[in-house]
Amino acid sequence: MGFEMRVCAWIAMTILVIYLSPCLCLEETNGGICNLYEGSWVYDKTYPLYDSSTCPHIRGEYDCLKYGRVDKEYLKYRWQPSNCNLTRFDGKSFLTKFKGKQIMFVGDSVSLNQWQSLICLLHSSVPQATVIQQGGDPIKNYTFQDYEVSISVFHTTYLVDIEVEKIGRVLKLDSIKNGNLWKNMDVLVFNTWLWWYRRGPKQPWDYIQIGDKIVKDMDRMEAFRTGLTTWANWVDNEVDTNKTKVLFQGISPMHYNGTQWQEPGVTNCAKETTPINGSSSLLGLPPASYVLQSVLQNVTKSVQLFNITALSELRKDGHPSSHNIFHGMDCTHWCVGGVPDTWNEILYASIVN
Ligand SMILES: *[C@@H]1O[C@H](CO)[C@@H](O)[C@H](O)[C@H]1NC(C)=O
Ligand SMILES: *[C@@H]1O[C@H](CO)[C@@H](O)[C@H](O)[C@H]1NC(C)=O
Ligand SMILES: *[C@@H]1O[C@H](CO)[C@@H](O)[C@H](O)[C@H]1NC(C)=O
Ligand SMILES: *[C@@H]1O[C@H](CO)[C@@H](O)[C@H](O)[C@H]1NC(C)=O
Ligand SMILES: *[C@@H]1O[C@H](CO)[C@@H](O)[C@H](O)[C@H]1NC(C)=O
Ligand SMILES: *[C@@H]1O[C@H](CO)[C@@H](O)[C@H](O)[C@H]1NC(C)=O
Ligand SMILES: *[C@@H]1O[C@H](CO)[C@@H](O)[C@H](O)[C@H]1NC(C)=O
Repeated sequence: MGFEMRVCAWIAMTILVIYLSPCLCLEETNGGICNLYEGSWVYDKTYPLYDSSTCPHIRGEYDCLKYGRVDKEYLKYRWQPSNCNLTRFDGKSFLTKFKGKQIMFVGDSVSLNQWQSLICLLHSSVPQATVIQQGGDPIKNYTFQDYEVSISVFHTTYLVDIEVEKIGRVLKLDSIKNGNLWKNMDVLVFNTWLWWYRRGPKQPWDYIQIGDKIVKDMDRMEAFRTGLTTWANWVDNEVDTNKTKVLFQGISPMHYNGTQWQEPGVTNCAKETTPINGSSSLLGLPPASYVLQSVLQNVTKSVQLFNITALSELRKDGHPSSHNIFHGMDCTHWCVGGVPDTWNEILYASIVN
């Protein structure tokens, strides 16, 4: 290998290391590096950032106040990184910065959760702005016309495809056919996890296919890793990351096991009204997080882990529980307003820097 090649390889490695570095190196403060994901929740009486009753069309799954949640303290926590400050979300400056741009969330209902929160945040900043809504499946699109900013969500449970064939519904772990609808966006925020362990009537496929091999089932974590790897290869082969900023959302944690917050025996989040005290680094991460991290490490293009797992783990109080349109216990999704507003504050901080 010639000198030039070696220099090239060195530069490539350096770039890779910078891109994959888990922290977002913003301003250094207190001698520490600004990692937006390391910190704690602090009570802030100036929160929430908006009144959810003024946000049009919050889905019944997430509209906790409308469906009877009476404790409101969960709306009053602000995320405080340990070594720096997040700027308060400012919808006008968001829209101005992203003028002419398209932002898309791609994934399951957790993506929809975050999209909905972002729409509420922006709508509350510019309530008079002209918006165009294009609803539907799989793409819902919300355009702030005066700013030419469109925020859309593409619903896909696994990112990889499910196709209906003679034998039934086949989950194709090595195929992403929708990629062409995603790759021209300016910002892409991916997510998938919720559905990988679904079984029984809720499982939306009958067979799994990898290459020529068709199986009835397989180790689900392995399936997740394989599907993610297909996604990773798709990014490497198809996405121009000079144009499109690509983020992958960390696993969104659920709260069905009180052992996580020193209340063994508790099996849901129904009685939770405050976050878990302490710092995001105290609880262990779910196993799927490590699979995601290892796949992201193999992507050669620039992809950012949007690492909301640990900070959300502290928010046992952030879920709808039974305060949703169907009154079913839900400790998986998040109330809007609520925790996803913080995700969007962090998203904003991480894509403008
Ligand atoms: C994500 O953030 C948590 C909490 O700060 C940290 O423990 C974990 O290592 C981070 N993951 C990566 C890949 O940086
Ligand atoms: C963060 O905000 C606090 C309170 O306003 C302030 O005292 C502190 O200096 C700020 N830190 C940084 C790094 O800006
Ligand atoms: C969303 O709507 C705007 C305005 O009609 C359009 O320009 C944009 O391409 C749409 N985005 C998607 C992802 O459909
Ligand atoms: C991205 O930009 C870099 C530096 O400007 C350039 O070397 C590289 O070829 C670009 N990649 C693509 C896919 O255009
Ligand atoms: C809750 O988590 C603990 C510790 O990880 C585990 O031992 C226990 O089996 C879990 N409980 C349930 C009901 O899954
Ligand atoms: C959590 O912190 C709050 C405020 O510092 C305190 O009032 C509360 O007692 C703490 N709860 C636990 C379980 O440590
Ligand atoms: C990452 O790439 C290495 C080297 O090609 C491979 O051994 C490893 O299995 C890959 N990891 C994942 C999670 O795909």
